[in-house]
Amino acid sequence: MSKIIWITGAGTGIGKALALAYNEKDNTIILSGRKEDQLNEVATLLSNAYVLPLDVVNEEAITQAVAEVTAKFGRVDVLINNAGVSQRALVTETSNDVGRQLMEVNFFGSVHLTKAVLPLMLKTGTGNIVGMSSAAGKFGFPLRSYYSASKHALHGFYEALGLELKDTQIYTTVVCPGRIKTDISKNALKGDGAAHAQMDDGQLNGVDVDICAAKIKQGIRRNKSEIYIGGGEILLIYLKRYIPSLFRFIAKRVNPE
Ligand SMILES: NC(=O)c1ccc[n+]([C@@H]2O[C@H](COP(=O)([O-])OP(=O)(O)OC[C@H]3O[C@@H](n4cnc5c(N)ncnc54)[C@H](OP(=O)(O)O)[C@@H]3O)[C@@H](O)[C@H]2O)c1
Repeated sequence: MSKIIWITGAGTGIGKALALAYNEKDNTIILSGRKEDQLNEVATLLSNAYVLPLDVVNEEAITQAVAEVTAKFGRVDVLINNAGVSQRALVTETSNDVGRQLMEVNFFGSVHLTKAVLPLMLKTGTGNIVGMSSAAGKFGFPLRSYYSASKHALHGFYEALGLELKDTQIYTTVVCPGRIKTDISKNALKGDGAAHAQMDDGQLNGVDVDICAAKIKQGIRRNKSEIYIGGGEILLIYLKRYIPSLFRFIAKRVNPE
C-alpha cells in the first residue's frame, strides 16, 4: 500500500538513510530540514519525494508545513521526528541559551510537529509516530547533559501519548541509537553554541547508517514502542536498568568522545 512518510532531518545522516530505506515505488517521502539544498540532493535519489524545508523550532512554520501536507496529501502514515542536535560540553561550560536550544530542537521540535500532525492521523485512525531519542535518552552521559535530558524527555512524552492512543491504530515508537556513523559529533554544540566540528571516535567506529535505518524501519513496521540500535554501548541501557551500580562503574570509564 502506498504510504506518506514524513522525515525531519532528512538531508543528512540517519534521516537521509531512512528516506532511502523507505524508497519503495508507491511511497511518497516528505523531506524536511533547514538546508533545502541537501534535501533537494536527497530527493534526486528517491522515486517520489516532496521537499518541504522546515525549522522544527519555528511553531508557525510547523503550522504552515502541516497545512501544506494536508492540502497536498490529506494524510501522513509515518512521521519520523528525526531532527536533532547533540552537545559536547561540560555542564559548567554550557550556557543556558545553548541548553534551551538543545531542548527546543530535540524535545519541543519533535513534540510540536507531532501535535500538529496528530489530528490528521486521528482522522484516518492509523499511523506511526516516531521520536528519535538516543542511548543517552536512557542514561546520562558526560558532555551531553542537556542532550541527554532532552532525549529522556521524549520517552515520557511518547509513552504518555502512546497510552492515550490505545484505542486507535496509531502507534508511538522511540528510537535509541547508540553510536552511529554520521556527522552528529561534527554538528554537536559546544558550550558557547559553536559546532564541535570533530568526528569523534565513537561516531567514526559506529554502526553503519544504512543498517541503522533498516532496523528502525523494521521496528516501526512492528509498532515497537522502543528500538535500540548500536554496539556494546547498548548493554549500558540494560546495566542502568538492572545493575545501576555497575552501569556507573563502567560509564565513568568510557571515553565520551
Ligand atoms: N549518530 C548517532 O550516533 C546518533 C545517536 C543517537 C541518536 N541520534 C539522533 O539521530 C538523529 C539524527 O542524527 P544524525 O546522526 O543523522 O546526525 P546529523 O547528520 O547531524 O543529522 C541531524 C539532522 O537534524 C537536522 N536539524 C537540526 N536542527 C534542525 C531544526 N531546527 N529543524 C529541522 N531540522 C534540523 C539537520 O538538518 P539541517 O541542519 O538542514 O536542519 C540534520 O539533517 C538526531 O536526533 C540524533 O540526536 C544519533
